Amino acid sequence: MQSVSKPLANGRSAHPEQIHAADESAYDRRVSADLVASRIRAMHLPPFDPLNARAAELRAQGHDVISLGQALPFFPPPAAAIRAAHAAIEDPAVHLYVTDPGLPALRSALAMRLAGETAQRVTADDILISAGANHAFALTVATLVSAGDEVLMPAPYFTNHHMTVIALGAQPVEAPLADRTTFEVRWTDLAPYVSARTRAVVLCNPSNPTGAPVSAAEGGLIVRELASRGIAVISDETYMSLVLEGGHWSAASEPSWRDHVVVVGSFSKAFGMMGWRVGYVLADAAICREIVKVQDAIMICAPVISQMAAEAAVRESWDYPRSFHPELRRRRQVLTDALAAVPGIRWTPSRSGVFGFARVDGCENSEALARTLLEDAHVVTIPGSAFGLSGEGFLRLSYGRAVEPQLVEAARRLAQQLAAAQTR
Ligand SMILES: Cc1ncc(COP(=O)(O)O)c(C=O)c1O
Repeated sequence: MQSVSKPLANGRSAHPEQIHAADESAYDRRVSADLVASRIRAMHLPPFDPLNARAAELRAQGHDVISLGQALPFFPPPAAAIRAAHAAIEDPAVHLYVTDPGLPALRSALAMRLAGETAQRVTADDILISAGANHAFALTVATLVSAGDEVLMPAPYFTNHHMTVIALGAQPVEAPLADRTTFEVRWTDLAPYVSARTRAVVLCNPSNPTGAPVSAAEGGLIVRELASRGIAVISDETYMSLVLEGGHWSAASEPSWRDHVVVVGSFSKAFGMMGWRVGYVLADAAICREIVKVQDAIMICAPVISQMAAEAAVRESWDYPRSFHPELRRRRQVLTDALAAVPGIRWTPSRSGVFGFARVDGCENSEALARTLLEDAHVVTIPGSAFGLSGEGFLRLSYGRAVEPQLVEAARRLAQQLAAAQTR
């Protein structure tokens, strides 16, 4: 292994731990090829952080930057969760570990709610509390999938799913969706990509980045077809409570769900609790007992204060996210009307919040376009290419946090920018 020591100005070498954040050149250093696994070196961070960092710089220079980049809702956590967290800080138990799968009271309360959502029998043993949905997804993949297995994902996919599968040594396979208007996932999109090495299929329902929910008819068909082949379904239902029309279909509502389905859920978007880092796995108790081994090895348990706050949200405020549907519908309509007036942009609104996934005519490099939009129009958008090859030519525009005048102004700037690009 090559040394990672850094030469100091005085000619001596610094121990790696002496290179601290203030030393900018430490960021630019390339680590030794021997030090980092090749699959991690081959990964790229999505452009979210650099775009947001640049937006912050532009704001600091006095520019009016509008962000349509954040996959966040506008509402704070419910009051019940905040009250519970205040009370919890005085409780000595909050400073200790709890049992690996999570607070029994939270698991019971959540089981009851999810039984209601899925019309299936769900018990506390079928629930494992994680530090967010991404953590729940990683635990699930680590438990079900072996190195080299293929994990199929309808595309555009959620970037973090793709990254996690690679990080855990498996092989993500992108199955492009045929319907590039509604982005509905269909079994016929997935079937050609199922191979003898396919171990799991990931559903993102509703989807980040497209906002499209999986329909009950297609979802049921997908679960049954995969079950007949012994392939697991990992269903990320982080946005389940933001389906604005038609209701949410959960993969756990299929009668055979216990044998083949793992649902991943979150408190982040439903309850505006992103920073609390709390989510869950819903799976048959026998699968949860396997997942808990990975949980114990990696995390022991999710943050206890967050679990206490989440329990209050589940018990007292389960319908809280639904109270924001009218406002989300209004914002979606404003964005729809505003984008309809932009030549070269096409978007068919989806049934769930908080994303628009808009086609930009003639765009072959959405990353460059997003950068130009930020530099010249001061609008943060997320390039579709961040969500796989199938996302190229699109921009993800979030209406979760932008207020109505900002949505209108962002569309105006978009129109101006695209018109200017055409005359160049
Ligand atoms: C589809 C999806 N899953 C998971 C997450 C992460 O959720 P959590 O904060 O619960 O880890 C996000 C966040 O944007 C998401 O969009």
